[in-house]
Amino acid sequence: MISCEIISAFFYGRDIYYLEGQMSGGEDMKEKIRHLVIGAEVLVLIGLCISLVKNGNAQRVTVQSQIEEKTDKISNTSDYEKDNKKIIDIKGIGMKDIEGKENEEEDLEEINCKENNFKEKKRVALTFDDGPSSKYTPQLLEGLRERGVHATFFLMGKNIEGNEELVKQIQEEGHLIGNHTYNHVELDKIPKEKALEEIEAANQEIYEITGVYPQWLRPPYGAWVKNLDFCVEMFPVLWDVDTLDWKSKNVESILKIAKAEVKDGAVILMHDAYQSSVEAALQIVDLLTAKGYEFVTVDELILP
Ligand code: NI
Repeated sequence: MISCEIISAFFYGRDIYYLEGQMSGGEDMKEKIRHLVIGAEVLVLIGLCISLVKNGNAQRVTVQSQIEEKTDKISNTSDYEKDNKKIIDIKGIGMKDIEGKENEEEDLEEINCKENNFKEKKRVALTFDDGPSSKYTPQLLEGLRERGVHATFFLMGKNIEGNEELVKQIQEEGHLIGNHTYNHVELDKIPKEKALEEIEAANQEIYEITGVYPQWLRPPYGAWVKNLDFCVEMFPVLWDVDTLDWKSKNVESILKIAKAEVKDGAVILMHDAYQSSVEAALQIVDLLTAKGYEFVTVDELILP
């Protein structure tokens, strides 16, 4: 503003000088006007200098404030996350503009998402009883292989004969094999010696194929006899979620139970003995995987 007024005075003075030059008058008057104009020109120059200095200061203040603002953001973000998140922070600052509050919030969300990946996943164990089945077990194995999921198969001794390759395949594909007795007997309804025979006969069938003596036992109907704990070096495994797949033979019904009852650490009971069970099991895998669950075998779930 000041410089504009001085420039106006400068041109005004020059106009007076010009007009006086055209006028006939005394030399004294002309001299006075010349001094006036020179004075005005000096004022203009001083004004311009002041103006330049002031502008320079203003620019320095602006740059300084921008630097301070950026420094604040760097120190704030560093306070939020340290060490291994440094790369993310640096990326975030680079993407921010100086006034971009919204960008700042987006960066924080991005970091939060990455943090969630470090949290331990929820885990469940799918278990299949009564197999192996030459018709349904291969379909189930294929679906589990495609999804990169391992399950636990409690095999009946009497179903192994003729399905030896299938048992081998279950083992080779990383699933856990357990014992479901030889004849699917109710262990609490038969003499102790007979119960032990049932368990041992199934163990022998499995051992001859896999070279591994089963450690995990699923008693048919969940009927376990406590005293047997002292006679077999095996762990009985019951279940948390009974899908009743053998009863309904209905995919929707099985899914409904799974959706309602499955939670972190659950053992899910199913049977690779029905088409509906195979289809439902694979849908359960897809559903729970999408919800962040990891599928593990029974030993991985139970043992520390
Ligand atoms: Ni069974």
